[in-house]
Amino acid sequence: MNIVLFGAPGCGKGSQAKLITAKYGIPQISTGDILRSEISKNTELGNIAGKYINNGLLLPDDLVIELVKKTLQQPNCQNGFILDGFPRTLNQAQRLLEFINIDVAILIDVNINEVERRALYRRICPVCGKIYNISNKYIEICECGNKLIQREDDKLEVVRHRIEKYLANSEDIIEFFKERKILATVLSGETPEETFVSVDKILSEL
Ligand code: AP5
Ligand code: MG
Repeated sequence: MNIVLFGAPGCGKGSQAKLITAKYGIPQISTGDILRSEISKNTELGNIAGKYINNGLLLPDDLVIELVKKTLQQPNCQNGFILDGFPRTLNQAQRLLEFINIDVAILIDVNINEVERRALYRRICPVCGKIYNISNKYIEICECGNKLIQREDDKLEVVRHRIEKYLANSEDIIEFFKERKILATVLSGETPEETFVSVDKILSEL
């Protein structure tokens, strides 16, 4: 299964990708996670990426397209993958479908006022990658024992820039997925597990 997860910053792409991987055993390819890992390793790509990510801006298309193309050629992606955070512009979407088949693009539909809140209350484990929403229950330590951190780009001002970028690009991408007959939409539930019931229904019908 070749899957795209699409939706606003904080809509739950990463959370759904982890649930899909757990059930179907296909890898999550998160461009955001790859770039953040490059930043933490201080690589050349990381130094470029940091300037965009920490200001809530999108990296140049060519750079991200090459990164995804290379990643999808790896052996672990040959039996399917979940793209999380790519494509993000119409150009990325068009180019993606030129080099690989996509079975479904799932749009996670969530109220735009909710996504700002979710980003602000998100904490992540820098070691195992687990994602937490601390709005109802405040925790500092991951179940794996490590201290949770807040993403650099989850500051209010940066979150607002990210949402602006999403709103500027999303309509064209959704229209493109519709034309290619691969769009499926799920309404975000109250919890990631609730949303996954709808996501899983789509995947089991493929
Ligand atoms: P990226 O890391 O992809 O960020 P994003 O798209 O803004 O998405 P997020 O990771 O913030 O949210 P998510 O949808 O994964 O939600 P999550 O599951 O964590 O990209 C970061 C940056 O990298 C970009 O801004 C750009 O600079 C660069 N970049 C990446 N890809 C690029 C590309 N293709 N082109 C150019 N530049 C690129 O959930 C969020 C929170 O909500 C969590 O706390 C979670 O616990 C909670 N939550 C999730 N679902 C629910 C639910 N149903 N109910 C309640 N809480 C929930
Ligand atoms: Mg994510």
